[in-house]
Amino acid sequence: MRRVLLLGSTGSIGTQALRVIAASSDLTVVGLSCDRNVGLLLEQASSLGVSHVAIADEAAARTVSSSLYPELRIRSGAEAAARLVREVEADLILNAIVGFAGLESTLAAMDGGCALALANKESLVCAGSLVVRRARRKGVDIIPVDSEHSALFQLIAASGPESVQSVTITASGGPFRGKTAAELSGVTREEALAHPTWSMGEKISVDSATLMNKGLEIIEAHHLFGLSYDQIEVVIHPQSVVHALVKLVDGALLAHMGVADMRVPIGFALHYPERAPMSIPELDLASVGALGFERPDGVTFPAMDLAREAGLKGDKATCSLNAANEVAVNAFLAGRLPFLGIAELVGAVLGESPAGDLGTYEEVVDVDTWARHKAQKICAGMSESV
Ligand SMILES: NC(=O)c1ccc[n+]([C@@H]2O[C@H](COP(=O)([O-])OP(=O)(O)OC[C@H]3O[C@@H](n4cnc5c(N)ncnc54)[C@H](OP(=O)(O)O)[C@@H]3O)[C@@H](O)[C@H]2O)c1
Repeated sequence: MRRVLLLGSTGSIGTQALRVIAASSDLTVVGLSCDRNVGLLLEQASSLGVSHVAIADEAAARTVSSSLYPELRIRSGAEAAARLVREVEADLILNAIVGFAGLESTLAAMDGGCALALANKESLVCAGSLVVRRARRKGVDIIPVDSEHSALFQLIAASGPESVQSVTITASGGPFRGKTAAELSGVTREEALAHPTWSMGEKISVDSATLMNKGLEIIEAHHLFGLSYDQIEVVIHPQSVVHALVKLVDGALLAHMGVADMRVPIGFALHYPERAPMSIPELDLASVGALGFERPDGVTFPAMDLAREAGLKGDKATCSLNAANEVAVNAFLAGRLPFLGIAELVGAVLGESPAGDLGTYEEVVDVDTWARHKAQKICAGMSESV
């Protein structure tokens, strides 16, 4: 039995991971975590017989009556998930927390020497060099859960890293593919959340609509696979059937294809290095018909290029980019910032961001805090005109 500690168990990736685990005979859950969705967390804990949980939101944690759940060991607060990582013995940690909040748990997994299935791409965007350095020092495997990176992980292993000339990750283009900036000026939160091919949490859905998600994935690929930024290309592929490609030194192009169902990369990461059968709909290529590929529209969707620019400046800039984006996405979801304001706000913060590497977690927190304050200040000015 492989013991899995599942962080962010109440989210889109978390609940899909629990479906994969329920269908498997060799995986068991030893800990769960959420931010404030305590009702679902308690349901998950009792149905799985899990006694270790973490609740980030203190007020939500206080609503759990210890007399009703005497067997439950609850950790609460912003650092609760990382404490769970340090205190509960596991064979694999799946980090499916969204945003910067997932970084401390990623670093705790590295320090404990535990294999990490990483959905929380923001860990690599905020502190990629630090995470990768610690993983190497401790000999920890990071198995990506993002579908494109899971695909690259498999393609690069199959062809040998020395044979890889460049990689391409695909993007569906999101709900606004083909629109002009003028057409996007008044789009609503509901329109931005209506992703055409993937069903996901709110933050990544908005990131997909701005194409910032693909920008974050470029940075993620840079750190995971040690590729330079000019070796990482992006192509729009509306069908989401091809997840990623590698171009080899002899000109051959290998593609990874499959249905757009996150249970496939989640299952791969949970069972790695084994492969387990999965009950998911099969890909019927004939009914897909034609596969299309287009260049991204960097004029209407500047976020992806901002991420690449940040990547070239180093970890301080990517950390600032991430913080500004989290502030901007929250403001958009709350109706305080127009859709096009997201990239504008990120660009403004990035323009003032320090450049260079980040050596410690404390330095990462400092840059994140600086960028959040800056973004909130700029956002307040922009909100007045909404
Ligand atoms: N969804 C996808 O298909 C997909 C695909 C590829 C990569 N990813 C990546 O996977 C990660 C999770 O995405 P998601 O779509 O599953 O997000 P989600 O549905 O919003 O779920 C996020 C999870 O993190 C918890 N959480 C939120 N804020 C937290 C905090 N401050 N501290 C601790 N826990 C917190 C949430 O708890 P509550 O439920 O209590 O809020 C929930 O369990 C993201 O980094 C995303 O980029 C997702």
